[in-house]
Formats: sequence, structure tokens, C-alpha cells
Amino acid sequence: MIRLSNIKKSFGENQVLHGVNLSVDTGEVVSIIGASGSGKSTFLRTINFLEKADSGSITIDDLTIDVEKVNDKEIVNLCKKTAMVFQSYNLFRHRTALENVMEALIIVQKKSKHEARDIAIAELERVGLLDRINYYPHQLSGGQQQRVGIARALAINPKVMLFDEPTSALDPEMVGGILDIIRSIAEQGRTMIVVTHEMNFAQEVSDKVAFFAAGNIVEIERTKEFFTSPKKVLTHQFLRHMKAS
Ligand SMILES: Nc1ncnc2c1ncn2[C@@H]1O[C@H](COP(=O)(O)OP(=O)(O)O)[C@@H](O)[C@H]1O
Ligand SMILES: [Mg+2]
Repeated sequence: MIRLSNIKKSFGENQVLHGVNLSVDTGEVVSIIGASGSGKSTFLRTINFLEKADSGSITIDDLTIDVEKVNDKEIVNLCKKTAMVFQSYNLFRHRTALENVMEALIIVQKKSKHEARDIAIAELERVGLLDRINYYPHQLSGGQQQRVGIARALAINPKVMLFDEPTSALDPEMVGGILDIIRSIAEQGRTMIVVTHEMNFAQEVSDKVAFFAAGNIVEIERTKEFFTSPKKVLTHQFLRHMKAS
């Protein structure tokens, strides 16, 4: 279970998050959709302190932190419970696929090299990359690099997986394979927050959909209601716009 309460964030004069609230139950998948620049990535990044929010609180299972009073140890403990899959993969360029997946297992989770290697190989196999484990990122397609990104996130067995537009940097022919992998992870009962512009995917995979605009969640509904009978005018307009484009 993850609960974000009243998350606020400004960059200088520019307030990007206006007190966002979101709760996701264990095993639930929530998609976040919304226009570019509305603050979706910033919101996701405040969850694992890639951006430190200015205020608000974050609960993951038994750990609650107040962002304004948090200490380094609490940040580390909270971050251990999440893993993020990025739009631009964010792999270490000078490390192989295998080494990329092993990294956090050794550095953060303090696993032995041997154990980290076994876990990494299993996760790379799960995403269909067993024959590429010794390749460097530049020797892999975008889709393969994103598979490494997903294997890396899965390997640490996080309480919550965060996806930030995981297919938007990919060539169109790569998108389906990545969405299939994410779908299969969702079906295994992983708690997930997915920022996406893939409406069909959001519709098929999510338990709930949240519409983000101007730094806040305008509307969050169960998926069916969200797409069939959105309550807010802004949501309606956005969905119409997405259909037309
Ligand atoms: N590190 C940063 N420094 C300054 N402004 C930022 C930073 N990150 C994001 N922003 C600003 O925050 C706003 C929301 O950006 P972002 O969260 O990336 O939106 P989205 O993911 O919905 O496209 C934008 O105006 C963007 O310029
Ligand atoms: Mg973004």
C-alpha cells in the first residue's frame, strides 16, 4: 500500500505540484494520464526522492515519512521499497545488461555477487533477454534497453513499481512487447503507478485511472467509469482530445 498526502513542490517561483493526494492499495495498478508539463514526472519522482517534495507525507506499508522532517536513513528505507522504470532507460552505459541489474542488489541490498548474479539472470530471462546479458546498452535496441530497465526494477522486488512513460521513447514496433511485459507484471499482483499516454494500455491494465492537470489530480476513478463516464469537464475534454489525435 502506498499513500501520498498533500505533496507540494515548486521549482523557484513555479509551483509544479499543488498538494497531490493518491492512495494505491496493495496489488492495485493506477495509471496517471495528462498533458505534457502537468507535473506527472515530478510527482512520480517525489515518491523516491529523485525530487524532494517541499511538503507532504509518504506512506509505504508500515513506513510513513513527513517530507519536511525526514532524515537520510528514512529516505534510504523508503527508497528501498520502490523501483522506477524511466522513459529514457537510465542504464549505466559502461556496464553490461547483467551488471546493470546486479548493481542495486549489491550496493543497496548488500547481496553477495553470486546471489545478485543469480537474481539478475532470472529477471533478465523473465523479460526475454537471456541471450543478451553480456551486451552493453549501446549494443541493444531501445526495446531491449527498456527490458533491462524493467528487469533491474523487478530484481529488487519493490513494494511499489513506478513507471514514467516507459514506452514513449521507443520505436512503434517495440511498444507492444514492452507493454506486454508490464501487463504480465501487473497480473502478478505488483502494486504499480504507471504514467502513460497509451490509453488502450491504461484501459486494459489499470484498476484506476487518474487524470493529472496543472499539478494536481483532477479526477481519479475506477477504470471503467473513468473512460465511460468521467465526471469532470477537463477529463472529458482530455479524453476527447486523445481520441482525436
Ligand atoms: N528539475 C527541474 N527544474 C525546474 N523545473 C522543472 C524541473 N523538473 C520539472 N520542471 C518543470 O515542472 C513542470 C512539470 O514537469 P514534468 O513533471 O516533467 O511534467 P510531465 O511529466 O507531466 O510532462 C514543467 O513546467 C517543468 O518545466
Ligand atoms: Mg513526464
